[in-house]
Amino acid sequence: MSHAPARPSSAERTPLHVPHHVAIIMDGNGRWAQKRGLPRIEGHRRGVETVRTTTFAARDLGVKMLTLYAFSVENWKRPQDEVGALMGLLEYYLKKELATFVRDRVRLRTIGRTEEMPAGIQKLLRATIEETKEFTDYTLVLALNYGSRTEVVDAARAYAAAVAAGQEKLNDGSWASFSRYLYTAEFPEPDLVIRTSGENRISNFLLLQAAYAEFVFTPVLWPDFTKADLAAAIAEFNRRERRFGLTSEQLKPAAAAVK
Ligand code: FPP
Repeated sequence: MSHAPARPSSAERTPLHVPHHVAIIMDGNGRWAQKRGLPRIEGHRRGVETVRTTTFAARDLGVKMLTLYAFSVENWKRPQDEVGALMGLLEYYLKKELATFVRDRVRLRTIGRTEEMPAGIQKLLRATIEETKEFTDYTLVLALNYGSRTEVVDAARAYAAAVAAGQEKLNDGSWASFSRYLYTAEFPEPDLVIRTSGENRISNFLLLQAAYAEFVFTPVLWPDFTKADLAAAIAEFNRRERRFGLTSEQLKPAAAAVK
């Protein structure tokens, strides 16, 4: 008879706590292509495939909301042919994915100044958002022409207009009331923010919403990012202790009491 301690069955192991909302800064498409002597756009094309696989990988793992940083306000400054190619890919992606989203019950939403995107893309976005609005179990949020600073400016403007119209009282100003004017008003805050490609920056992405998020930086280039990499980031999230400004003891009163 073996005296080795019994290994718990998978059902007995502590279940992983899956973050409700995962947000990803998809980075490294250009380097992926350059490493292979391919044009940068080839990296973006492969990046779109990863958008597709990650959308379903996240849902399989139990994530309820996935936000992807697809195009930033700063990305317009890239060479014109690259911006044009990215818009072309986005249009192709939206045309192709609409049927999939409807079949697989994925709700699409966006954050960012989408009114400045090309008209064809705006039209596709409106149609996809409309056709998928009932699917509340899983939401894909695309950050398009997004930047946190422009988001704050837009929110401040809308808030000021609401004060002027007598809908908000300036003296009652609080985060709860102001945050209703952010693009993300109806979304929960991200629990986990992942950035690929080994860069350790936030790059103007969900700066306010990620105030209490965990950050995982992975060296994997976006086109190579797999379901296993996402699962690894979720496992890392599970090793962290989120304190929201409290102490460990406050978070675990029972554990502290037996010390
Ligand atoms: C960063 O790679 C990636 C982007 C500019 C945005 C991500 C875009 C896609 C995945 C394709 C389009 C998206 C959708 C949703 C259809 P980079 O070019 O900055 O890479 P580098 O840092 O290696 O140059």
